[in-house]
Amino acid sequence: FGAAQVLVASNRGPVSYAVADDGSLRSKRGGGGLVSGLSAIGPESGALWVCSALSDGDREAVRRGVGEDGVRMLDVPADVHADAYNGIANSVLWFVHHMLYQTPLEPAFDAEFRRRWASYETYNRAFAEALAEEAAEGAAVLVQDYHLTLVPGMLRELRPDLRIGHFSHTPWAPPEYFAMLPDDIARQVLRGMLGADRLGFLTRRWADAFTACCERFAGGLGDTRVGVHGLGADADFLRARSHEADVDERMAALKEEIGEGRRTIVRVDRTELSKNIVRGLLAYRQLLDDRPEWRERVVHVAFAYPSRQDLAVYRDYTAEVRRLAEEINEQYGTPGWRPVVLHVEDDFARSLAAYRLADVALVNPVRDGMNLVAKEVPVVSDAGCALVLSREAGAHEELGEDAITVNPYDVVQTAEALHEALSMRPEDRTERSKRLAAAATALPPARWFLDQLEALRGGTGS
Ligand code: G6P
Repeated sequence: FGAAQVLVASNRGPVSYAVADDGSLRSKRGGGGLVSGLSAIGPESGALWVCSALSDGDREAVRRGVGEDGVRMLDVPADVHADAYNGIANSVLWFVHHMLYQTPLEPAFDAEFRRRWASYETYNRAFAEALAEEAAEGAAVLVQDYHLTLVPGMLRELRPDLRIGHFSHTPWAPPEYFAMLPDDIARQVLRGMLGADRLGFLTRRWADAFTACCERFAGGLGDTRVGVHGLGADADFLRARSHEADVDERMAALKEEIGEGRRTIVRVDRTELSKNIVRGLLAYRQLLDDRPEWRERVVHVAFAYPSRQDLAVYRDYTAEVRRLAEEINEQYGTPGWRPVVLHVEDDFARSLAAYRLADVALVNPVRDGMNLVAKEVPVVSDAGCALVLSREAGAHEELGEDAITVNPYDVVQTAEALHEALSMRPEDRTERSKRLAAAATALPPARWFLDQLEALRGGTGS
C-alpha cells in the first residue's frame, strides 16, 4: 500500500512544464475548480494528484525526476496517449456526450477505432496501476472525467479496499444517442464507471441520462450511488484577481479597441465545437441587420482560445470563426467602429478585463456540462451584466430564471435575445445580475470538492 489518503486522477493536471531556451524546465500552474477544490483540504492531508504528462516539457520533467509534492505525472508513451486522448476521449466520447456527430457520415466504428480503443484501455490501466500503488489502505480516490471511465472498474479489481468516486465534467448522452457506440464498448464504459462507489454529475439532467443508459445497457446501477454537485464560481478568487494591475492594464487596452460609449457583448470560450461560436457570430450579424440602431453603438468582444488543435475539425472550426468575424467587420465596420473584436491568444487577465466591461454575456453552447463563464461574468462585471444563456448548458438549471434563455440553434431568436439584453433597464439588469452572481457562487469549488469527499467517505449521498 502507498501513503496517500486522498487521490485525484485526471488527464490534465494542476501543473505543466516547458523546456526553456537554456534547457531548464519552467513550470506553470493551472487554475480551475479542481485545483482550488483540492487546495481546500491543504497539503498536510497527504493528497496526491495523478495526471498525464502532456507536453514535451512534462515528459522531460518525468525523465529528470522534477516535480511538485503532491503531483505524480504519468509518462504514458506519446502515441498511446495520442490515441487515447485525441482518438477516443476527445473525438469519440466527447462527441457522444455533446452530441456533435454529423450522423450521415460519422461515426464509423471501424478497425482503426478498435486499435485506438486498445490504447484507451492501456492508458486507463496505467492510471489504475499508479493509483493502486500510491493509495493508503481505505483511501478515497476521485477519478475525473471521460478520459478515465475505465479506471474505477480496473482499480476496484486491484484494490477492493478503496473508496472510489468518479466525477463527469461533461454532459452525459441520452440512451438513444449513447447507443451509437458499439454494444461491447457501451457496456465497457458503463461497467468501468460502475466500479465506483459513487458517481458525480454537474446536473440532475446528466445524472438521469447516465442512469437511463445503465438501465438500458448494463442492467441498472447496482450498488453504485449517483449524486449531483453543481460546481460554482470561486467568488473570492475572481473578485480579488480581477482587480489586480494586469487586469486594469488589459481593461484600458480593451476600452481603446471598443471605443467610447459603446455597449459590449462578451463571450469567452475555448475554440470548441460545442460552444457554438459560429452561430453566436451569425446571431450578432443578424442583430446588426434587424436592429440598425445598434450599429456603431455595440461591440462584440469574442475571445476564442485555441483548443485541441491536433484534431482537424477543431482547426477548421477555428478558421471558420476567424473568417466570419472578419466578414462581419468588412460588411459593417466603419472607420471608427470595429463591430467584432476577436482575440485568440489565451490570456486570463484579458478575459477578466472583458468580464468587468461586459454589458451582456453571450453563452450559447449547443450542449455543455456546466459552463463556468456563465457563472463568472455576473460575479466579475463592474456594472452587472445581462446573460444570454443556452437552455442546453448545465448552468441553465441554476441560472435560467434570471438569464435570457435561447435555443442555441435558433440564430434569429438569439439575435432577438441580444437586443433584449442590450435594451434591459439598468436597474433590472443590476438586480438580475446580483441574483445570477448569488446563484453562480452557491457551491464554490472548495465546498464542491469537500462535499464529494464526505459523501464518498461517509457513504451518504443522493
Ligand atoms: C473540459 C473537460 C476537461 C478538460 C477541459 C479542457 O472542460 O471536461 O476535462 O480538461 O475541457 O480540455 P483539454 O482537452 O484542453 O484538457
